[in-house]
Amino acid sequence: MGVDTKSKAAVKKPEVHPNTWVYHDGEFGRYHDVRLGLMTHALHYGTGCFEGIRAYWNAKQEQLHLLQAPAHYDRMRRSANVIRMELPHSTEELVDITIEVLRRNEFKSDTYIRPLLYASSEEIGVRLHNLKHSFFIYAIPFGKYVEIESGIRCMVSSWRRLPDEALPPRAKITGSYAQSALAKSEAVESGFDEAIVLTMDGHVSEGSAENLFMYKDGVFVTPPVTDDILEGVTRTLISELIKEELGKTVVERSIDRTELYTCEELLLCGTGAQISPVVEVDHRKVGNGRVGEFTQELQNIYFGAVRGESPKHKDWTIPIY
Ligand SMILES: Cc1ncc(COP(=O)(O)O)c(C=O)c1O
Repeated sequence: MGVDTKSKAAVKKPEVHPNTWVYHDGEFGRYHDVRLGLMTHALHYGTGCFEGIRAYWNAKQEQLHLLQAPAHYDRMRRSANVIRMELPHSTEELVDITIEVLRRNEFKSDTYIRPLLYASSEEIGVRLHNLKHSFFIYAIPFGKYVEIESGIRCMVSSWRRLPDEALPPRAKITGSYAQSALAKSEAVESGFDEAIVLTMDGHVSEGSAENLFMYKDGVFVTPPVTDDILEGVTRTLISELIKEELGKTVVERSIDRTELYTCEELLLCGTGAQISPVVEVDHRKVGNGRVGEFTQELQNIYFGAVRGESPKHKDWTIPIY
């Protein structure tokens, strides 16, 4: 396996402390006390669904801001429905449990929260029906997922996004992420930072774990939810900022591959990636090859909002302490 040194994707990996407080099947406990059996169904067949949520530390305020937790749990409920599962709690209860996990851990840094609903039956046999389900939430201190200040270099993946007819990308199903892993590793091991994946009919879908916006001819364009994307929480927030803060229009339409080479600005967005300016695709400069003016402006507004510094966007976050 080639280990790439040029890629900026290799940012510091977060590690979990064994004493971290977690929530598992109705109880709060320590990370190292939870054990999963080797036969756990989800481990073999990808039968689970999950979320990635962030909380942002504001040192000046000595406050941790939980970002868009209700929207993530609402999406998780929809993902669960697709794969014949049911969340064991209401969205309000899940938000309260998340707050409790964060408080018990007394995190004073940016944090990533991972809820997972999975088939926990210890049985052989691929299926969705007649299985036991389990649910956990853990949280870890977490910084950048990809380098975002100087922009990232992307390749169009040789792997295609699985269509809704095969494995619906609109549901955040654990098994689907083997496909994202194929695309991401191909990109990183080829010296790029991130992969952009096309739909089966050759339109731009999204990054390996991010949605995409391009700026072209005075408007922002993003693929529609029918182009096999995950319906991103960050995508909704960015659309709101583009319209309300930049005063620009957001058009949802299919994007051709070569538009990635000919647009003025390009960005990937997601809970993990936040706002990642794309400065190069397939060895072609995007715009002038530097972080775009509007992308920079969006980053500034976004980071103010998620850290609880923008009164206008107070409803984006929940203060933990
Ligand atoms: C495939 C995929 N697309 C897009 C996103 C962005 O979604 P969100 O903004 O809700 O994190 C993610 C991240 O979860 C993802 O995994």
